[in-house]
Amino acid sequence: MKLSPALESAFNEQIHLEFESVYAYLQMAADLDSQSWSGFSTWMHGQSQEEWMHANKFTQFVLQRGNQVQLRGIGDPAAGLGSPLAAFERALEHERKVSQAIHALYAKAVAENDYASLPLLQWFVNEQVEEEDTVGRIVDRLRLVGNDNTGLMILDRELGQRPAASAAGPAA
Ligand SMILES: [Fe+2]
Ligand SMILES: [Fe+2]
Repeated sequence: MKLSPALESAFNEQIHLEFESVYAYLQMAADLDSQSWSGFSTWMHGQSQEEWMHANKFTQFVLQRGNQVQLRGIGDPAAGLGSPLAAFERALEHERKVSQAIHALYAKAVAENDYASLPLLQWFVNEQVEEEDTVGRIVDRLRLVGNDNTGLMILDRELGQRPAASAAGPAA
């Protein structure tokens, strides 16, 4: 059974937002790398790859339902975030926005009794809880170390341990 035209367009909107996330995190990775925060940069790269998987997970679902995917242009991401804290604060703000978008999509699917969408959307609801928690804790720890360069170096090294294709990525 196909998605209604309204849901098709809402899912396409979400695909767009996930690809915007790919770009936003790639820009953060580049900004952090240019300041030699290699570990924070690696983490942002991993996050970008995860967003790529999210976009593709939604894309695959829309196609499985027999609907159309229409990609759109992506605007310039915010650049030149001054510090690791500024970058991760921006990431947290972004994840909260994505959570709201997924909740709105869930509400639309429920309103249309589109039960086939709900398992996928519930997976994303759970994923966003995890994402906000992970990024929120990094923000907390960056605030704790403040301008202590030794503390920042330790965090940079720790976050750099994140594998390139995140093991925390979506299951098949
Ligand atoms: Fe995402
Ligand atoms: Fe995300």
